[in-house]
Amino acid sequence: MASHLWYPLLLVAIFLLMQTSDCFIHSRAAFYPNSDENGTDIGACGFGSFGATINGGDVSAASDLYRGGVGCGACYQVRCTDTAHCSSKGVTVVITDQGSSHGTDFVLSQRAFSKMAQTADAAASLLSIGVVDIEYRRVSCSYPNKNITIKVDENSNFPHYMGFVIWYQQGIKDITAVQLCETQNFVCKLLDRSYGAVWTTTTPPSGPLQVRMLFSDDDGDETWLVPVNNIPEDWKAGETYDTGVQVNI
Ligand SMILES: *[C@@H]1O[C@H](CO)[C@@H](O)[C@H](O)[C@H]1NC(C)=O
Ligand SMILES: *[C@@H]1O[C@H](CO)[C@@H](O)[C@H](O)[C@H]1NC(C)=O
Repeated sequence: MASHLWYPLLLVAIFLLMQTSDCFIHSRAAFYPNSDENGTDIGACGFGSFGATINGGDVSAASDLYRGGVGCGACYQVRCTDTAHCSSKGVTVVITDQGSSHGTDFVLSQRAFSKMAQTADAAASLLSIGVVDIEYRRVSCSYPNKNITIKVDENSNFPHYMGFVIWYQQGIKDITAVQLCETQNFVCKLLDRSYGAVWTTTTPPSGPLQVRMLFSDDDGDETWLVPVNNIPEDWKAGETYDTGVQVNI
C-alpha cells in the first residue's frame, strides 16, 4: 500500500487514543496554605467539616472543574510530573471547594499534596516548591461500606426551609438534578442548587420524603436513582439519613 494511504488511518488511531479515559491532562497544583493538613471546613461545596476530612483528608479545591458546583464530590487522580520526587500513582482527591492559586486547576490539602511524593523527603521538597506541574484525570470515587447519605443542613426548619448535601456518591458521574418526593402519592418537586452541592427548597413537603438523584455523564447519559430508604417524617436539622443505595457508575 502506498504510504499516503496510511496517513488517514494514523489520524484515526491517534484520535481513538485521545478518546480513552486513560488520558491525563497537564496542569498545575498548589496546596492549602493553612497549617491543618486536611481541607477546609468552609469549602464552597457546602460540605462543612465533612469536606475537610472525607477520603481521609485527600481533598481539593478546583477552579474550572468546580463547574458551578456540579463538580463537587467528583474524584480526580492527580500526580506531579517531576520524576525525581513524584510517584507514578499520585493521589486520588475529592473536590470539596472552589479555588485556585497562581492559576492552578487544583488546590490540594497538604496531606494530598504530600502524597504525590515518593518519600517524606520528596514531600518536603514539593511543599517547599509550593506550586508544581501535574497531570490529572477523572476517576471513580470509592467509599467502601458506605451508602449514599443525605445530610440535612443545620438551618433547615420545617415547613419554611429544607437544605441538604449528598455524601458518599461513588462512581464517575455527576448529580445534575435532585427531586424531593412525598411518599403518599409521589408528587415530586425539583430542588434548586443553591450553591456547591447544597440542594434546597422553601416549601418542603410533609410526611416521609424520598430524594431522587439524576446521574449524568459526559456522553449525555442520564439515570434517575430512586433510594430504598426515605427521610422520616420527623427529620431533623443536622441529621444524616442513609438512602440505602449506592452507585458504581
Ligand atoms: C484530618 O482527616 C483525617 C481523616 O478523616 C482525620 O482522621 C484527622 O483527625 C483530621 N485532622 C484534623 C487536624 O482535623
Ligand atoms: C446500605 O443499604 C442497605 C439497604 O439497601 C443496607 O442493607 C446496608 O446495611 C447499608 N450499608 C451500610 C454500610 O449502611
